[in-house]
Amino acid sequence: MAFSELFLQELAERNDIVDVVSGYVQLTKRSGSNLFGLCPFHSEKTPSFSVAPDKQIYHCFGCGKGGSVISFIMEIENLSFPDAVAFLARRAGMAIPEQEDDPNAKKRERMLSLNRDAARFFYEQMKAPSGAPAREYLQRRQLSGRTATNFGLGFAPDTWTSLTDAMKAKGYSEHELFDAGLVRHGKKGGVYDTFRNRLMFPVIDVRGNVIGFSGRILGDGEPKYMNSPETIVFSKSHNLFGLNLAKKSKMGFIILVEGNVDVASLHQAGFDCAVASLGTSLTPEQARLLSRYTNEIVIAYDSDGAGQKAAQRAIGLLEKLDMRVRVLRMEGAKDPDEYIKNFGADAFRNLLEGSENHIEYRLQSVQRKYDLQVDEQKVSYVKEAAGVIAQLPGSVEREVYAMRVAEQAGIPNTAVLDEIKRQRKNKLRTAQRELTREQLRPVRQQEKRSGVRYDNPHSAAAEEGIIRLLYLDSALFHSVQPPKPEQFSSPELRHIFTVLLEHAEQKRPVSLAALGETLSNQELQILTRIIQRDDASDRREQALADYINILNTDSLVSGETDLRAYAEKLKERKGYGGTK
Ligand code: CTP
Ligand code: MN
Repeated sequence: MAFSELFLQELAERNDIVDVVSGYVQLTKRSGSNLFGLCPFHSEKTPSFSVAPDKQIYHCFGCGKGGSVISFIMEIENLSFPDAVAFLARRAGMAIPEQEDDPNAKKRERMLSLNRDAARFFYEQMKAPSGAPAREYLQRRQLSGRTATNFGLGFAPDTWTSLTDAMKAKGYSEHELFDAGLVRHGKKGGVYDTFRNRLMFPVIDVRGNVIGFSGRILGDGEPKYMNSPETIVFSKSHNLFGLNLAKKSKMGFIILVEGNVDVASLHQAGFDCAVASLGTSLTPEQARLLSRYTNEIVIAYDSDGAGQKAAQRAIGLLEKLDMRVRVLRMEGAKDPDEYIKNFGADAFRNLLEGSENHIEYRLQSVQRKYDLQVDEQKVSYVKEAAGVIAQLPGSVEREVYAMRVAEQAGIPNTAVLDEIKRQRKNKLRTAQRELTREQLRPVRQQEKRSGVRYDNPHSAAAEEGIIRLLYLDSALFHSVQPPKPEQFSSPELRHIFTVLLEHAEQKRPVSLAALGETLSNQELQILTRIIQRDDASDRREQALADYINILNTDSLVSGETDLRAYAEKLKERKGYGGTK
């Protein structure tokens, strides 16, 4: 274990969850002791995100996310457990205990330092006489020396082991170079540089670490780009090229493009808020990362079919996070880089200012599907367009777009507005119904989301009850025979139970914060959900007895196929009175 439980408990005590969460979410008091706010992890209009100061936990009734103050920071800052601990320690002015026993942290640090040294090496190679081809290439692409410095661009020379030799001289082993994806194994043993004769783009995360590289061929040829493989410090799907710079931009929005070159060229033209998604189509993790820095995205993907398709996908992801999305359409150029070369930075700025906001873009896509000269198609168009408009939160906005649709369809405004109203009502009703259903059947509903599948839903409430009491009031277990781990229907619940029981038996206090290291994130979320509810404290003993009874009876059912034997056994259990 990297951190002692004592340290983690103190960390949690010094970082009150209400204070910490308030930095990200506006919390208001309702009835009871819990505070509520809009969940930062999914998009919603009414608050279902709760913080319980007494238990020092958070839980979202909408998306199921939950945990301790540490899990909150992990989730919202996109940090690993040790990084989140470091974050909170810094916040509370605590020193982090030495972590010599954490080989992973050491390895990460070592790889980051290797990457930094490699980036420096590439950078120097660009300036060296042998870097002439790369400098010429930059010139051809009209990228300035300042831009190169700004992005830390470099050159991987056209040799087999320049980087390897330089890094070995700095004390890195071949093994370390290999793990970082900087070298490959040759056929005759030995290693050779992965990146050769390429323009090097270091990928730098928001904390300023060089986490990987993207290498572009100088001129034409295949593959056009080579990227670092996934390593312990680099995950393509979790990072965006240029975000280290864009996060400091004052433009108030972020421009999302496809290519590294587009990013460099936009920054050079004064649009310092451009990022690229590292050659993948935008992932949910990248969308979430973006939402930490802005609530407005301008998508400027390539104007080909693939780019437009990718834009549609990105819109969906960003919209889920309640971000404002606009789509840029570039006529006469295939991408932003070419657009700026052809028409200049001012033209691009005009494009930005006039860029369709997302709703218009979607309305146009809807319109293109229908022939408005045909009456039935006109009706379908109005219905579908009204569905799009119905999603807008502002009534003025809805009215404006309704008018436009009415105009296009040649029907009165009120007809469109009525349709929108009808669709909004339906949606509201569905949402309400879902909510009620959820409240009525918390276990079943949340099964899917929490990832726990119960073989036997009947025992689910009992299993969760036992875990809840074990967490909240472990002294109760001193006087009863606890169930066996095998009696729990999912591996997660089994593990949670085992860990809690161990604490109880050794009379060690538990806290969610300290469990963060023993339990997986998913298990922590399950546990948080479970301890949200509470049995009235004067009924706890009885409740525990009931739960254990249910569990024992249920295991009998599943363990016995002979019904008669089962009936006999039931008769023996006189104390059992059913589940009411
Ligand atoms: N990409 C990749 N592997 C490839 C091609 C592309 O990883 N074989 C990724 C790169 O991150 C690249 C992005 O996808 O930046 C977009 O590709 P593309 O538009 O072809 O690259 P640009 O950077 O725009 O380069 P250029 O303007 O020189 O075409
Ligand atoms: Mn491109």
